[in-house]
Amino acid sequence: MISLIRMTPENIEPYLERIREIETLSFAGPWSINAFRQEAMNPVSHLHGLFVNGALQGYMCFWLFEDEIQLVNIAVHPKERGRGLGRFLVTKMIELALSRATQRIWLEVRVSNKAARRLYEKFGFVEVGRRPKYYADNNEDAIVMALALAETASGEGSREEQTSQLWTTPSSSPASRKGSF
Ligand SMILES: CC(C)(COP(=O)(O)OP(=O)(O)OC[C@H]1O[C@@H](n2cnc3c(N)ncnc32)[C@H](O)[C@@H]1OP(=O)(O)O)[C@@H](O)C(=O)NCCC(=O)NCCS
Repeated sequence: MISLIRMTPENIEPYLERIREIETLSFAGPWSINAFRQEAMNPVSHLHGLFVNGALQGYMCFWLFEDEIQLVNIAVHPKERGRGLGRFLVTKMIELALSRATQRIWLEVRVSNKAARRLYEKFGFVEVGRRPKYYADNNEDAIVMALALAETASGEGSREEQTSQLWTTPSSSPASRKGSF
């Protein structure tokens, strides 16, 4: 069973070590445990743990503003990748965005991060800009990607139908912490 639980100051402590493990395995410039604590406290920030049969196997963190979302962190444990969990996380973020009349979701991703870029493209994210030498560890450029939800929401069918399509057939849908991705 897969579930998503919002991390708060009240529930995050037992999971911080597992989050740190996944973060360290996933990024050249990992967030610290305190950074995750801060996100759990920040009312703008939505930090969600992804649980598979009760075990935390991934997480995502996005900032929800009045009409836009910025995805600032997403990771799945390396042993659990390639099974649709990343797709599940992005679907859940888009579902929440659609329920809040969010206009746009945007994020930054390393040029070399083909897996993440492909994942976002499958949901209809497109490149809207570049930040040269954004990542301090190797001077790599960041690609800025955005998903315009007004376009997603203007298609046929209800929002519920659209988000269920995102989850079941993401490939057919239309659709910071500086430098951590
Ligand atoms: C990016 C990440 C979250 C994807 O998680 P995942 O659970 O492996 O992704 P899924 O299994 O749901 O795959 C969804 C889609 O992503 C793409 N994808 C995933 N892994 C890929 C890979 N190794 N190469 C190319 N595309 C890949 C595919 O398009 C895939 O769709 P498909 O299964 O229909 O081919 C995971 O690779 C990760 O944690 N990476 C390290 C952290 C990171 O880079 N985060 C993103 C920062 S911007």
